[in-house]
Amino acid sequence: MIATRDLRTAAIARDFPLLFQPTSRGKRLVYLDSAATSQKPQCVIDALVHYYTHDNANIHRGVYELAQRATDEFERAREKVARFVNAAEPAEIIWTRNTTEAINLVSYSWGLGNLRPGDAILTSQLEHHSNLVPWQLLAAKTGAELRFIEVDEYGVHRLDDLEAKLEGAKLVALSHVSNTLGTIAPLATIVPLAHAAGAKVLVDGAQSAPHFRVDVRDLDLDFFAASGHKMCGPTGIGFLYGKRALLEAMPPFLTGGDMIKSVEYTSTTFNELPWKFEAGTSDVAGAIGLGAAVDYLEAVGMDWVREHERRLTAYALERLATLVPRGLHIYGPQNRDQRSSVVSFNLADIHAHDVASILDTEGICVRAGHHCTMPLMEKMGWPATARASFYLYNSEEDVEALIGGLEKAAGIFKV
Ligand code: ALA
Repeated sequence: MIATRDLRTAAIARDFPLLFQPTSRGKRLVYLDSAATSQKPQCVIDALVHYYTHDNANIHRGVYELAQRATDEFERAREKVARFVNAAEPAEIIWTRNTTEAINLVSYSWGLGNLRPGDAILTSQLEHHSNLVPWQLLAAKTGAELRFIEVDEYGVHRLDDLEAKLEGAKLVALSHVSNTLGTIAPLATIVPLAHAAGAKVLVDGAQSAPHFRVDVRDLDLDFFAASGHKMCGPTGIGFLYGKRALLEAMPPFLTGGDMIKSVEYTSTTFNELPWKFEAGTSDVAGAIGLGAAVDYLEAVGMDWVREHERRLTAYALERLATLVPRGLHIYGPQNRDQRSSVVSFNLADIHAHDVASILDTEGICVRAGHHCTMPLMEKMGWPATARASFYLYNSEEDVEALIGGLEKAAGIFKV
């Protein structure tokens, strides 16, 4: 008998038209690269088409009805995102292109004004380049010290010396979920200690917001950044959440039209939140598309998404373990509660790119390489890993396809 959960997954998958195109070799497409970008449900595609077909006009400028409709839709999308992460008010949500831009906004706008020699920025050894390079530059510009929470061989944060590392820290910047190993950061432990030490906390939520319920107020985050395209939304749109008091005190990051209240030849009065941080014409369609994605995820239920991914990841780890005798190395936390739906691995000494290419011949999409975490790969001594990442539309059948593809790779390379 087919379980209700499997029927639901099959119904969800049908919402994503891309998944049903055959590959050029006539194989079923098995998409296991949602940590890189997720696929889009039809309702998001429809929202974009509807916007350009019926509502397109520039926002916050026109007095005519069409422009008003575009503005209303754009601001409604902001309200949806605010509700999705439980911000206190929509004005605490700033549209950005992606997580990277949101982190850069904080680095420039908050960081340059608040850090000086003797201060420290604390991040971890797990970080994606987008939550590392901005802090390297900020440290170089301000004279602040960049420190790292170490991770163990499984990519789990070592918190034994956290209090010492927090001494003098003004900012703690962590990914909520590692894009390479799936490690979920122990924020409930770290955030109160960071605040007690006088630091602000920024969380890179690119790999968490799509996969489980995030409550920025419950976690007491100061800043939270995420990308639309990883959570069923369009590319080119993301957001920064910031506590109002912090955002109010920060100068604009980018300047120009829309972020102003009034301009004279030699001076400018800036707009209110959130528009103070949104210079130029925003990605209006993208924001509306992301609003539709949030509606979709909420209709499915974020608790359902998390539970589905937990089960599927557990199943994948169990099935992948059968390939350990053939040289499969599986990386990441051993404790399933500490990991999200990302599984990195290597098959014997076959390069991850070769494994990914063989999987591709079977219609299976996985990412291979350093996953934008070069220092982590160097620390772990891995030249590259292959990475399968699951989302709400993946099923056990997809896992079985992956296992079959890996068996084929093992056969070709005779391991
Ligand atoms: N950050 C994205 C990934 O991990 C691109 O694949």
